[in-house]
Amino acid sequence: MSLPLLELRGVGKSYGGGWLRQHTRAVHDVSFTLEAGRPEVFAIIGESGSGKSTLARMVLNATAPSEGQILFRGRDLATIRRSADRRAFMQAVQPVFQNPFEAFNPLKRVDRYLYATAYHFTEAKGRAAQEAKADEALHKVGLSLAEIRGRFPHELSGGQLQRVAIARALIPGPALLVADEPVSMIDASLRMTVVNLFRRLRDELGVSIIYITHDLATAYYISDRIIIMQRGEVVEAGDARRVLMAPQHPYSILLRDSVLSIDPPGDASEPNDPARPWTSAGASLAARSGDVP
Ligand SMILES: Nc1ncnc2c1ncn2[C@@H]1O[C@H](COP(=O)(O)OP(=O)(O)OP(=O)(O)O)[C@@H](O)[C@H]1O
Ligand SMILES: [Mg+2]
Repeated sequence: MSLPLLELRGVGKSYGGGWLRQHTRAVHDVSFTLEAGRPEVFAIIGESGSGKSTLARMVLNATAPSEGQILFRGRDLATIRRSADRRAFMQAVQPVFQNPFEAFNPLKRVDRYLYATAYHFTEAKGRAAQEAKADEALHKVGLSLAEIRGRFPHELSGGQLQRVAIARALIPGPALLVADEPVSMIDASLRMTVVNLFRRLRDELGVSIIYITHDLATAYYISDRIIIMQRGEVVEAGDARRVLMAPQHPYSILLRDSVLSIDPPGDASEPNDPARPWTSAGASLAARSGDVP
């Protein structure tokens, strides 16, 4: 049996707790496993402050758990110290951030990021080889180097720029992408192009994706499995459709009903249609959350 790609065992994170400082338990006792050789979109859903980003930072080895263990391909992240090991880990586990306009320096042409990543993480040391890597990665996200060459971030739409960010993350050839609210800053009309891309990357490249969101509709639409977090704890976990159709925990029932309640009246029966359970609800929730800063 092969080692799991990623395994969280009773992972927790607390902040503060020193003299006169408030102790925050951001994440508590989270366990789940992503199998190797079975790429999936794994969604982490929860309200603001439920610990999603803290969990993402721990999986990216950007912050250490205060309880439990995280193993990537069987290796505890806490044991990754040597720079060669850190680099190998970064190559395999890449982040996608919430706001592409913050991820890119506004004064730097976006293609430069792709060349730099190719230089650091692949054998492409000359410019021509880096351009080839950039173009190849851009094609995986439905763009091409010709379209973005020499462009500054503000010359692209949020959806295009986020796809460039995803292309950059693909250059090292990762096995896992950790995408923390990757579409929340993107115009509602462009969200589905980015979200659908995750499914394609799963199928065509065999990349697993941890998709963090508070947008239930897109999560149900693209995910294989989900966990729902509330105040740092996992309150529900399982197959996305099962959780959707038969939520067990009061919080997930509440979430389900909040999606149902904005379904257009004429479509009342749609959520029971297993073929396309959340498409129209997804569109309306996406449009609605686009109004919220
Ligand atoms: N560096 C930190 N120091 C102290 N407390 C923190 C820190 N980072 C997060 N927290 C606290 O941990 C809890 C979880 O925060 P986290 O950012 O993980 O939530 P989230 O689910 O990502 O929320 P959002 O949907 O708003 O992004 C919050 O109470 C937050 O205030
Ligand atoms: Mg967050």
